[in-house]
Order: sequence, then C-alpha cells, then structure tokens
Amino acid sequence: MLIFSFESSCDETSAAVVEMAPGTRRILSNEVISQIDTHALYGGVVPEIASRAHIEAISGLADLALKKSGASMSDIDVVGVTNRPGLIGALLVGVSFAKAFAYSANKPLCGVDHIRAHVAASYLAHPELEPPFVALVVSGGHTTLYEVTSYTDYKILGTTRDDAAGEAFDKVGRLMGMTYPCGAQMDRLAANGEKNIKFPSPALPGTLDFSFSGLKTAAINYLHTAEMKGETIVREDVAASFTAAVCSGIAKNAGEILREKKIPLVLCGGVAANSHLRKILAETAEKAGTKFYVPPISLCGDNAAMVGAQCYYEYMAGNIDDITMNAFSF
Ligand code: KG4
Ligand code: ZN
Repeated sequence: MLIFSFESSCDETSAAVVEMAPGTRRILSNEVISQIDTHALYGGVVPEIASRAHIEAISGLADLALKKSGASMSDIDVVGVTNRPGLIGALLVGVSFAKAFAYSANKPLCGVDHIRAHVAASYLAHPELEPPFVALVVSGGHTTLYEVTSYTDYKILGTTRDDAAGEAFDKVGRLMGMTYPCGAQMDRLAANGEKNIKFPSPALPGTLDFSFSGLKTAAINYLHTAEMKGETIVREDVAASFTAAVCSGIAKNAGEILREKKIPLVLCGGVAANSHLRKILAETAEKAGTKFYVPPISLCGDNAAMVGAQCYYEYMAGNIDDITMNAFSF
C-alpha cells in the first residue's frame, strides 16, 4: 500500500511516500524543509511565520516527494497528514493541502497524531519492531512514557508536569549564547565537559512523571550567579552536567517501568537525537533485560515518512477521516 503523507505541525514542512504492508515498511521519498534559520532570529518558533513558510513550501515539496518516489498520483492508496497536536495555523496548512489532494484524486484520508507518528519512525527503521513496547517520546513539546499495546492503542504511564526536555535544552542553551534550537549544540558541547555541577533530577519520586522546571531554574541560577560574581564558567561542564541530569532522570523512570513490564523500549522525538540519551537508555534497557530501539537521527526530527507509517496502521484499524477533518492544537 502506498501512502502519500504530510507534516506541518511546527517548523518543518515535509512530504513523503512510504510503502507499507505486512512485512514491508519502506520509505520511497521523504522531503523536509526546515524553517529553523528563519525562527532562529527570534529565539523560538513564531507561529504566524511558520504558517506562511509552510504555505510557500508545501506544493513544491509534494511534487518533489511524488517525483522522487517514482509513484504517480493514481498509484497512491491513502493520504495521511498530521492533524494534532501542534501550532494550529501550521497544522491547517498540511491538513488543507492533504484534504484538497485526497478530494481531487478521490483517495481516502487519515489524520495522524504527531506523537504517534514520532513512535512510528521506529517501525520504518526496525522492520521487526511490533507492539507491545514502552515508547519514550522526548521532544520540544513532550516528555512522556507510553505503554503502546497495539499500533493504535496508547496508555500514558508518566509525563512531564511542566516543561518538556527539549524546551529545557533550548532555554538553558540560549542563556549560554546558543541560537534556537539548542539541543544539538548542547549535545556537542557536553561531549567535552565534566559532569561536575550538581543539578536536581527531573524524575519525580514515587511516580513515573517528570518536572524539568526545577532543573532548568537551577541551571539558569548557576549561570546568573557566576555572571554576577564575574566568574568565568566552563560552558562544556555546564552542558555536560545539565545533560547528565536530564538524561539520568529520564533513564531512572524508564528503567523502573522496563523492569516491571519486561517489554522493549522505543525512544523517539527530536531529543532522541541526543547522543547521551541514546547511550544511557541503551544501557538501561540492557540492564532491565529488554531490547532498545531508536530511529536514525534523520528520522528523529519532524518528517512526513513517520506520518505515513502511522497513517497505514490508522487506516488498517478503520480510523479514516473525510473532507470535514479538522486540525487540533492539543
Ligand atoms: O520533535 P521535534 O523535532 O519537534 C517537536 O515536535 O517538538 O523536537 C525538537 C526539539 C528541540 O527542542 C531541539 O533542541 C531538540 O529537539 N533536539 C535535541 C537534539 N537535537 C534536537 N535535544 C538534545 N540533543 C540533541 N542532539
Ligand atoms: Zn515532533
């Protein structure tokens, strides 16, 4: 089955064609245009600018994705699009385009949850992966542990009560003089630092929930105090210590649930690109005696191939939409 899919929930526009069938999970094309450079000027994503940039990019990307896949419009079986959660104006661009395409080509249409799409990136990367498993979604907007009981059934085991891990990386990175998004820069800096600064754990005791606001404030206070005293900070050490606190807090909760459930762990979302997080979670899963899956970095950020993969399972489960489909910010 060929799926033509679209992603426009935040600051990446993407169109893809994937081939999905029992035993087959193949990316035929996956075109992404990032708006990062535009938003970097403002220190974060500006929703109105994001919507306009999606409008400018989406037709050309759709054309390119179809051309690169070698498929024609008539070969497409289903159209998939992220319709929740995300920036409402940004989502509406992909949703409107997908609706127009599905209507004009007379194809079925499925709205896809962005978080489930991030999880589905691992289906594309690991042909043997199937539910049940624990999915850890760590992105700019989410830090959540799910029990995935089937391709379309999710149960929240633990989640952040305030900021997301990616948001914390971005805020602390900006204070250290980096440009948005700061996660990848923090990752590189941390590789050359010592974990010699004590920061609080984001793992809340007695639950599988997280809180990143205390950790973020502690890092901000550390930087401000050093500045007021005129002390020079070792940026590498701050990045290494902050990253260690984020990653070991996440690993603590993940380890707890893996030891209890004895099912594989799937790491996904933009922060799944973090080298320290990938390493510590691989070790955590190994210690718990379970398997660990994470997509390649190219599939960790927002892309339409992951949307197409999840669209297949939604379609097979009968979760099919029509021309009245809407976008939802939550
Ligand atoms: O999933 P994503 O592309 O967009 C959302 O749906 O939020 O995630 C973006 C987030 C940003 O906060 C970015 O700083 C973070 O992922 N990120 C990283 C790394 N690469 C991207 N965080 C830590 N280490 C990285 N290597
Ligand atoms: Zn995302």
